[in-house]
Amino acid sequence: MAPASTLTALAEEKTLESRFIRDEDERPKVAYNQFSNEIPIISLKGLDDIDGKRAEICKKIVEACEDWGIFQVVDHGVDDKLISEMTRLAREFFALPPEDKLRFDMSGGKKGGFIVSSHLQGEAVQDWREIVTYFSYPIRARDYSRWPDKPEGWIAVTEKYSEKLMELACQLLEVLSEAMGLEKEALTKACVDMDQKVVVNFYPKCPQPDLTLGLKRHTDPGTITLLLQDQVGGLQATRDNGKTWITVQPVEGAFVVNLGDHGHFLSNGRFKNADHQAVVNSNSSRLSIATFQNPAPDAIVYPLKIREGEKAVLDEPMTFAEMYRRKMSKDIELAKLKKLAK
Ligand code: SIN
Ligand code: FE2
Repeated sequence: MAPASTLTALAEEKTLESRFIRDEDERPKVAYNQFSNEIPIISLKGLDDIDGKRAEICKKIVEACEDWGIFQVVDHGVDDKLISEMTRLAREFFALPPEDKLRFDMSGGKKGGFIVSSHLQGEAVQDWREIVTYFSYPIRARDYSRWPDKPEGWIAVTEKYSEKLMELACQLLEVLSEAMGLEKEALTKACVDMDQKVVVNFYPKCPQPDLTLGLKRHTDPGTITLLLQDQVGGLQATRDNGKTWITVQPVEGAFVVNLGDHGHFLSNGRFKNADHQAVVNSNSSRLSIATFQNPAPDAIVYPLKIREGEKAVLDEPMTFAEMYRRKMSKDIELAKLKKLAK
């Protein structure tokens, strides 16, 4: 199969190509639409009201981060119209003919653009997804030549969306900073000049969804992620220390908030880094838009507060770039061992 093809074409086949078939232990355990309502859904209405509901909302957020590292927010202040525009335009992009999408092909080391089935270097099995990704903050890092210019209007909508999500992420980080007994800017300051990367995921219908994953199990490396998903379902998280999978109930207009490794380390492990994956199905395609809030590459990663009697979760401070490099090389090593064991 030539690499310059898109997954959408393969969605019509009867069987799955072997490059997407996962080992049995990695395959989905729970159906994409067997929804669980265990993950907290938190309304942010009144979050700014210091004398009113703020304390109660913060308590819910903090408990969700301690128990799960993943929760959903509603009444978050991001306009419904902006969300539906962003979703409509993203869907239209993936419906474009392959040559339009491949104009932004980022294989070959380009920073941002379109890619089919991204997977780790050295890994035998690929994810069943197409993505388009771009770096939106810091503003000086925007390379508009890597932002799809089709469908028309997407760039302007994306700029607005990125700005609103940056504001929402900072509000949530303020709550977590205060919960750690720190000044409210502590977590954003620890990110130095916070990066933001948007990844739009498109999971086409899949002929044999039980054999594959849309996105393999992982924790996000950054501080916090805001994920918008459609109503199809497919995002799964774990509980019982990774033993049980649950499918997150899609909630119209909500953002799923994930704590990443950076948020986990800065809180000295108090806030969980959510262990999650995406599964696919044979009935319909699925769209999700992940907005990653990451520290600058040279920001120092180390717990901001170590509570009495606790040990630091990291042996030494390191830059975020180094933290990421170690995470990736560990994953690549594991993938190689898996390949060898076959
Ligand atoms: C992600 O983990 O980045 C995306 C998960 C999803 O599509 O639900
Ligand atoms: Fe993720």
